[in-house]
Amino acid sequence: MSTHPAPTVLLTGGAGYIGSHTAVTLLEAGYRLVVVDDLSNSSEVALDRVRQLAPGELVFHRLDLRDEQALDAVVAASGIDAVVHFAGLKAVGESVAEPLRYYEVNIGATISLLRVLQRHGVRRLVFSSSATVYGDPASVPVREDARLSTTNPYGRTKLVIEDLLRDVAAADPSWHVALLRYFNPVGAHPSGRIGEDPRGIPNNLMPFVMQVAVGRHPELVVFGDDYPTPDGTCIRDYIHVVDLAEGHRAALEHLDRLGGCRAVNLGTGNGSSVLEVVTEASRAVGRAIPHRVGPRREGDAPATYADPSLAAELFGWRATRTLADMCADAWRWQSANPHGYAEPIA
Ligand code: UD1
Repeated sequence: MSTHPAPTVLLTGGAGYIGSHTAVTLLEAGYRLVVVDDLSNSSEVALDRVRQLAPGELVFHRLDLRDEQALDAVVAASGIDAVVHFAGLKAVGESVAEPLRYYEVNIGATISLLRVLQRHGVRRLVFSSSATVYGDPASVPVREDARLSTTNPYGRTKLVIEDLLRDVAAADPSWHVALLRYFNPVGAHPSGRIGEDPRGIPNNLMPFVMQVAVGRHPELVVFGDDYPTPDGTCIRDYIHVVDLAEGHRAALEHLDRLGGCRAVNLGTGNGSSVLEVVTEASRAVGRAIPHRVGPRREGDAPATYADPSLAAELFGWRATRTLADMCADAWRWQSANPHGYAEPIA
């Protein structure tokens, strides 16, 4: 037995899709976890299943990060060494309709969190950013030094938080911050016990495809096939959520190398078109996914995929799972849990 206690990591939004997968990976690596989540877009069942999948200690507190007093009490009592900050609202369309709520929740929560961390001397943080900060990139693959631009309030909250963290780290060199820019996380834990469970009609491609496959929707609408790409549909860098979770572990382990605050892409470096995803998903499901081509969705970039070499250099991390793995694992989760974490209505 080591004489050092296991490092304790605070996961904000740890009951969500990426948070719950990261929780499994970190528990397996021997971290002690403190999860805070308001469960506004997640389920505590995910955490029960995380505990079944991985050994070790996971403590959960249901709270809104903007409740600074409640958060302060948790951090004061828990002996936190580092934080992974996932918590936030993330639906693009909703952010266009309700910008005030998006700014208030995403930025308000981060300010509250940072104030509490400052007070307790915690200066190590990994932030859940997004490739959405690249907007429609001028060239691909996208490097971290590409021009930043966003097309919607959700994306702007990510950019504002990145700026906020850069400023905080510049003011106090004892901070170590990784801004992880995720490309398109998909798939599920290979056990099929945890996965993506969006509320309402999914905005994103893979959960929609999987819900069509279980019969919750009659067909997928492909948003445009007249883009300047080989098959005319948009190209994205889909990354298996377990690879992404391992990227967080690698980032936590190499935070000291970053020298302050640094943005790092988490992607595979490979682009897949919408039709390629549909084909691969059909193969995983064992039958065709009904689909038809509809109009373009406003704000979609024709092609975006990562240059993931900085993560390899700094963290020694690379994604290893294929699109076939992503579809097979997404299907295992969706077919075993057709209604996600909710009990099916009798
Ligand atoms: C979207 C968000 C992005 C966010 C990311 C989080 C937009 C414009 N962008 O990225 O800000 O960070 O999710 O995961 O919403 N598609 C269809 N039919 C569908 C759904 C999607 O054809 O029913 C296509 C889209 O046009 C796109 C691709 O599938 O080409 C992927 O879409 P999606 O999963 O929503 O991801 P992004 O648009 O890349």
